[in-house]
Amino acid sequence: NKVLLAYSGGLDTSAIIPWLKENYGCEVVAFAADVGQGDEELEGLEEKALYSGASECYIVDLKEELVKDYIYPTVMTGAVYEGQYLLGTSMARPIIAKAQVEVARQVGADALCHGCTGKGNDQVRFESAFAALAPDLKVIAPWREWDMSSREDLLSYLAERNIKTTASATKIYSRDANAWHISHEGGELEDPWCEPTEKVWTMTVSPEQAPDTPERISLNFEKGRLTKVNGELLSPYKALCKLNELAGAHGVGRLDIVENRLVGMKSRGCYETPGGTVLMAAYKALEHLVLDKSALKFREQLGLEFAHVVYDGRWFTQITPPILAAAESMAQSMTGEVVVKLYKGQATVVQRQSPYSLYSEDFATFGADDVYDQSHAEGFIRLFSLSSRIKALTSVKGD
Ligand code: ARG
Ligand code: SIN
Repeated sequence: NKVLLAYSGGLDTSAIIPWLKENYGCEVVAFAADVGQGDEELEGLEEKALYSGASECYIVDLKEELVKDYIYPTVMTGAVYEGQYLLGTSMARPIIAKAQVEVARQVGADALCHGCTGKGNDQVRFESAFAALAPDLKVIAPWREWDMSSREDLLSYLAERNIKTTASATKIYSRDANAWHISHEGGELEDPWCEPTEKVWTMTVSPEQAPDTPERISLNFEKGRLTKVNGELLSPYKALCKLNELAGAHGVGRLDIVENRLVGMKSRGCYETPGGTVLMAAYKALEHLVLDKSALKFREQLGLEFAHVVYDGRWFTQITPPILAAAESMAQSMTGEVVVKLYKGQATVVQRQSPYSLYSEDFATFGADDVYDQSHAEGFIRLFSLSSRIKALTSVKGD
């Protein structure tokens, strides 16, 4: 039998390879997804996997698909978890799981394996996706089975088997990176009273070190999709990379929060989402220009709902297509241009325009106009507040 392991090249998944072979007597095929985590993580990955005992290694490039089919649609719903987290890790799990299932079919694997711990969200996301896409495949989660619990344990496990590793006992943070973000958890960050030091952050400069002069950048949208940055036509992934670079240099997109994990406990995480922070600010500004009051309210509810769908690993369920269809429908008028000013950690929208804009200086003016007769407001308010009037007139005094 054959197991397809989601492999990162890190210490955990390197130890999983010999562990699977010993405990399941199986062939292990390594699978890695390129989701834009950067070349350092992917370089030499295949050699590493084979050296640790995998029979083959597949690396699948998912960068454009991740941004186009998972990140932008999520942005279009306005999903933000618990008012703060831009869902960087959560959005990437379904596409990685889907690609892993595809490779499993290709190589004829009968089991899927991941290196998530038994205490986190990621195990739920991977396994929920597996359940939806490959209910017939067995799932192996070594962290829930073996009795190793620290990096020291993993290092001595590998040493006993003469498998060399460059990993050290003192890697402090658990990080997860892709084109949208990087997350940092663990180490001293587990204490929510401990302020993150500069060594935590990797995608952004500190706002204090950022340039003293602001930079204005323009974003063009077509039906909800980011198409141009500073006038340059770019693919979804390239556009996001460009935004990351521009915003990261101004210290934009840092976040330090305590969040509710799906499994019931709270965790503290530091996140960097430079390009995404700018993109979402610009998107909101455009929405405020083209969506009317009830459409905007509906979009807010959609985002609230979808944030939990994505965070909780329910991407491949019945609720996703209707939510994305609604977002897509509203995005039909999301065409236009927004200018964002980057300065010392802030991304501020300063200009916006759209052919679908509902805003009109002529109508909003305090001067004379021809769509609005102020005397009509009296009757409107009279009816709008009628229930209050009736309540007041019929109430028992002192109630
Ligand atoms: N808390 C975040 C989330 O659940 C980040 C998880 C990071 N995952 C990781 N394997 N380091 O989406
Ligand atoms: C893990 O526990 O594997 C990472 C953190 C998470 O999934 O929430």
